[in-house]
Amino acid sequence: MDITNLMTPAFLVDLPKLKSNIRAMKERARTHGVHLRPHVKTHKTAEIARLQLPNEASGITVSTLAEASFYQKAGFDDITYAFPITPNKLNQAAELTGRLKHFHILLDQFETATAVADYGRDNNVCFSVFLKVDCGYHRAGVDPCAPESVLLAEQMQASKHIRFRGILTHAGHSYHCRNREEIIGVAQQERDVMTEFAERLKQNGIACQTVSVGSTPTAVHAPGWQGVSEIRPGNFAFFDKFQADIGSCSLEEAAATVLTTVVAHYPQHNQMLIDAGALALSKDPGAAHLDEKIVYGTVPGNPLLKIFSISQEHGLITSRAPIAFENFPVGSLLQIIPNHSCLTAALFDKYHVVEGNQVVDEWRPMRGW
Ligand SMILES: Cc1ncc(COP(=O)(O)O)c(C=O)c1O
Repeated sequence: MDITNLMTPAFLVDLPKLKSNIRAMKERARTHGVHLRPHVKTHKTAEIARLQLPNEASGITVSTLAEASFYQKAGFDDITYAFPITPNKLNQAAELTGRLKHFHILLDQFETATAVADYGRDNNVCFSVFLKVDCGYHRAGVDPCAPESVLLAEQMQASKHIRFRGILTHAGHSYHCRNREEIIGVAQQERDVMTEFAERLKQNGIACQTVSVGSTPTAVHAPGWQGVSEIRPGNFAFFDKFQADIGSCSLEEAAATVLTTVVAHYPQHNQMLIDAGALALSKDPGAAHLDEKIVYGTVPGNPLLKIFSISQEHGLITSRAPIAFENFPVGSLLQIIPNHSCLTAALFDKYHVVEGNQVVDEWRPMRGW
C-alpha cells in the first residue's frame, strides 16, 4: 500500500533508517566494549526492541511498570525499570521480580531504601536495586560528592532483601548542548562522575556490579566508556529534530515522521492549515535554547516552512518567504519530522512501517500505565 492511502495524521517509521540507526548504536557499543541496554520508552514496541537486541535475554530499559509487564509477556526477561521506585509500586515490582529472570529497580532516598527492605522482609522478596546518581542534570539522583550517598549505598547493601546492583545515571543535561563538542564534554563528565563514585564506593567496601549511563546525545558522541558497563540510549532509534539541532544526528537520519494533510491555504496571512496539531506532534518546544522562535517540527526538503502554532488538532505553517501554495495543494500530503519523537510516538496507537512510500508493516505499541 502507498502512504497516500493512509488516513492522516499518521505516524510513519522509515524501516531502513530505523535499522541503520540501530546498527550504528550497536556498533558503537561493540567497539567500545559496553553493553547496550536500549531504553524502549521511545517506541514501546516488541518489534523494535527485537531489532535492538541480539536476543530477548539481552536486557532493556523501561520507564513504567506497565511497559515492564508488556515486555515480560512478550518474552523479554532482563528489564531495568529506570524511574525511582515508590512504596505504592512495590507490589507490582515484587511480582515482576518473581516473573522475570532479572528485574532491576532504582532509588535515591533513604526512606525508599527502608520501604524496599521492609517490603522485602515482610513478603520474602529480594529486589535487585540500583542507586540513582545525579551526574549533573539535577532531575533525580543522589549527589555523588555527598557523604550521605555512600551511607545510602551502605544501607542498601546491609539489607538481606536488597541486592545492590550498582549505580545508574542519565545525562539529560546533554540536551542543553549546542553542538558535538559540548556533548562530548557532558559525556566525559557523565563517565568521570560515575567511575569516580564507583571507586569511592569500592573503597567503602561496596562493589558495583553495573555502572550504567545513558542519553542519546552522549551515547552518540562519547569518546569512550572506560569503567562503564552499560549504556541506555533510547531516542537514537528514531532520532528527531531536537537531536539534529544539537548535533546528535542529521535530519536525514530521522526515522519517524508524521504524515499530515494540507487542509487550507490562507495567502492573506502567508499560512497553511494542516491536520497535525498537538495531539499528533506533541507540544514539545524542541531545542528552544538554540532558537527562541519555537517551531513544532520541520518539513524535510522545505526548511523555510515553519510549524509555528499548534492547538489540539490544528497545525499552522508559515514561511519566512511567501509560501508557494501551488507546491502544496489542498489535500496534498506533507511529512513532518517532530521535535521529540518519543513524545510524538506516544500519541499514536499504531505505527505504519514504510520503505520509501510503501507501507510494509503495521506495529502496535503498548499504551497505558
Ligand atoms: C533514566 C533514563 N535512562 C535513559 C534514557 C534515554 O535517554 P534518551 O532519551 O536521551 O535516549 C532516559 C530518557 O529520558 C532516562 O530517563
